[in-house]
Amino acid sequence: MLVEAFRHLITPCPRHLRRMDYLKEAIGLKARYGRNRDAWAPHLGESRELIASAADMCAGGGRAVVIGSGLLLDIPLDVLCRRFADVVLVDILHMPEARKAAAKYPNVLFDQRDVTGIVEPLYRQVVDGVAADIPAVAYLPLQGADLVVSSNILSQLPIRPSLFAGRAKIHSAQAMDTLARRVIEKHLDALAAFPGAVCLITETQHQWSDGETVVETSDPLLGVDIPGGLRLNSRKWTWDFAPHPERDRRLDLRFTVEGFMRPGIAGT
Ligand SMILES: C[S@@+](CC[C@H](N)C(=O)[O-])C[C@H]1O[C@@H](n2cnc3c(N)ncnc32)[C@H](O)[C@@H]1O
Repeated sequence: MLVEAFRHLITPCPRHLRRMDYLKEAIGLKARYGRNRDAWAPHLGESRELIASAADMCAGGGRAVVIGSGLLLDIPLDVLCRRFADVVLVDILHMPEARKAAAKYPNVLFDQRDVTGIVEPLYRQVVDGVAADIPAVAYLPLQGADLVVSSNILSQLPIRPSLFAGRAKIHSAQAMDTLARRVIEKHLDALAAFPGAVCLITETQHQWSDGETVVETSDPLLGVDIPGGLRLNSRKWTWDFAPHPERDRRLDLRFTVEGFMRPGIAGT
């Protein structure tokens, strides 16, 4: 806890992302991974394997773009760097350890951006108190890319904005739900419209379980369907995300994860 608090103090981060807890989340991700390394290993292995297969399947070898690269836990960076002329890592916040891990690959580029378009406008709205219509867009830097990888980010996209707006009470819960769904839809629309190869990995169900008995389920995609055009070459597995007592004294939190690989639309 103390280490995490110290890291929070010393890690460089734009003010609005710090205030919206993106830095806290990134530091927390590393700590959770440290505590649950064995439980997460099968999920991370499945993700890396699927991304490597998508790279194999992709016809072009120019550029791969990884959306939500985070700490690179689920990304086979060496495979991508060997297979593509350049690899663009996209995240709202690139942590020093990700930059360090990628430093040995001369063909890695970092692109720090909000891929939803709503994060800073929402922050401004709260700070400046000016009501605005905030459209969800999808800022995916896919120009000239051969492969796009969206790995374990889709369900995360609306979480920090929803919590921040909820705390500030600037939108009704219903308006925020609508915006959250739009964020997920826009990300999927942008992937579906991309002509190159697409690898999408996302949680599709959350389950609280008491041993083998499921006691509660929820939909992390908020009822948004993954377009049929992306649902190709699918795989499904379980992510033992928070075995007890990580989140609850007795209950385990597991995620159903689905992965898809769609070849380029025009044979790319
Ligand atoms: C669960 S983590 C993904 C794990 C990551 N692939 C890894 O291997 O460490 C979700 C990632 O999405 C990023 N993210 C969340 N919202 C974002 C946004 N609006 N734009 C870009 N990245 C975002 C987070 O910073 C985080 O790194």
